Amino acid sequence: MIAPMDWTTIDACRTSTELPRPVEIRGWIRTRRDSKGGFSFLEVNDGTSLGNLQVVAPAELENYAEEIQKLTAGCSVVVKGELVESPAKGQATELHANSVRVIGWCDGETYPLQKKRHSFEKLREWSHLRARTNTLGAVMRVRNRISQSIHRFFDDEGFNYLHTPIITASDCEGAGEMFRVTTLNLEKLAGSNRPFDTKQDFFQKPTHLTVSGQLEAETYATALSRVYTFGPTFRAENSNTSRHLAEFWMVEPEAAFYDLHDNMQLAERFLKRVFSDCLSHCGEDMEFFNERIEKGKIDQLKSVIEKPFEHMTYTDAVERLLACDEKFEYPVEWGTDLQAEHERYLTSVVGGPVILTDYPSSIKPFYMRVSDDGKTVAAMDVLVPGVGEIIGGSQREERLDVLQRRMAEGGLDESEYWWYVDLRRYGTVPHAGFGLGLERAVQYVTGMANIRDVIPFPRTPGNAEF
Ligand code: 4AD
Ligand code: MG
Repeated sequence: MIAPMDWTTIDACRTSTELPRPVEIRGWIRTRRDSKGGFSFLEVNDGTSLGNLQVVAPAELENYAEEIQKLTAGCSVVVKGELVESPAKGQATELHANSVRVIGWCDGETYPLQKKRHSFEKLREWSHLRARTNTLGAVMRVRNRISQSIHRFFDDEGFNYLHTPIITASDCEGAGEMFRVTTLNLEKLAGSNRPFDTKQDFFQKPTHLTVSGQLEAETYATALSRVYTFGPTFRAENSNTSRHLAEFWMVEPEAAFYDLHDNMQLAERFLKRVFSDCLSHCGEDMEFFNERIEKGKIDQLKSVIEKPFEHMTYTDAVERLLACDEKFEYPVEWGTDLQAEHERYLTSVVGGPVILTDYPSSIKPFYMRVSDDGKTVAAMDVLVPGVGEIIGGSQREERLDVLQRRMAEGGLDESEYWWYVDLRRYGTVPHAGFGLGLERAVQYVTGMANIRDVIPFPRTPGNAEF
C-alpha cells in the first residue's frame, strides 16, 4: 500500500493505464525543448524512475514566455494537467499541462549537470547533486532495493534485527585498522609534554569505530538463536582501490547451532534472493545497467540464481592457481592471503560465484573454528566475478580451551574479551555467521566499476567531503 499523496509520482504516470486522467506531478526539469508549433516539451524527473515524463506545455499558459521558456535543467516545478497516451515513440504517456508552477530556479551558469556527459570521477566532486544523473539515480534505487531485500530475507528466515554498537573497545578482525574515538584535545596534547592518558578520555579506555558487529552479534545469537546486524562499518586501511571504502555498510547474520555448511547454504539463499529482488523490482534500472554499464548483466544474474554455487577449498584454489598459465603480480603460496587478481581468476574459471573454504588459520582472525587438521579454520569467502570477495564468514570457535589458545597465539588480551569468552563458559553452542559488504553487492548487481559510485558519500583516504 502506498500512502495517498496530493500528487502522482512520475513512475506511476509513466506506467498508468487509466487514461486520460488529471494529475499533478512534482519534480525537476531535465531538459526543455521549444517547438515552433507553439509549445514546449519539458522532460521532468522526480527520482521515482529512471525515465522522465514528457510534459507538453502550450504557449497559451499565462507564464509561458515569462517563465516556461526560461526553464533550464535543475529547476523544480509543479505541473498540473491531463495525463494521456503518448503518440511519440519510446514513451507510453505524456502530460498535457494546464499549469506549470516554478518552485525553484536553477542557476544555469553554475549548475554542473548540464546536458554534457561527465565522467564518474568528475561527478564525485558533486556528490550532493550526482543522484540527479541517470546512472547514480539508478544505483541508489538498486541500493535501496538491496537494503530492503536484506531485511525481508532475514525476517523471513527468522533472524532478529540487532543494533550493535558503533563505538567499541574491541578489534574483531584483529587487523588493527581502526579509527580512534577520543574527546581528548589532540592539538593541546601534542603541544605539551604530558603523556597520553586514556584514563582521562571519555570512556576511560581506548575506543574505536567498529570494524564489525560480529562479536556483539555472537552474544545475542546465544540468546535469540538467529540475529543479524546491518550498519556502518569503519576501516582505516590505506588502500585506494576500486573495492575499498573507509566507511561502508555491512550486514552480518549470526546463527546458533549452525555449522559451516549451514552458513554456506544461508549465504547462497541470501545472495540469490537479493539478486532476484533486484531483477523483479528494478526492471528499468537493471535494463539500463545491462545496456550501458555491463553488457549481459541481467543474463549473468539470472544464471547465478539458477545454478548452485561452486565450492572449493583454499588448498584446491591454491593448487589451481599454481597450475594455471596466468601471470600474477603477487606470487601464490599456501599460507598467504589471496589477492584480488587471484580471486578474479578463480571466479572467471568457474564462470560465477565460488565459495572458498578452509583457509589457513594463520591468515584468519582468532574467532574462526580450528579444523581437525590443526592447520585450517572453518572459514568461507564468497567470491563473485568482477568484484572478488563479497562475503567473508566462518563457523566460530565454540571450544573454550581452543579459543583461549588462539587468542594467546594472536597476542590478544583475554581480559579485554572476557564477555566474548564467557559465551564459551555458559552454554556454548556451535554457531556461524558471515558479513556481506553492501557496497560490493551493489557493485556486483549494477556492474559499477568503482565502489565510490555506489555509496552516497564515499569516505576514502584523504576524502571526507560532504
Ligand atoms: O571479510 P570481512 O573482514 O569479515 C568480517 O568483518 C567478519 N567479522 C564478518 C562476519 O563473519 N560477521 O568483511 C566482510 C565483508 C567483505 O567480504 C567485504 O564484502 C566487505 O565486508 N568489506 C569491505 N567493503 C568495502 N570496503 C572495505 N574496506 C571493506 N572491508 C570489508
Ligand atoms: Mg574478508
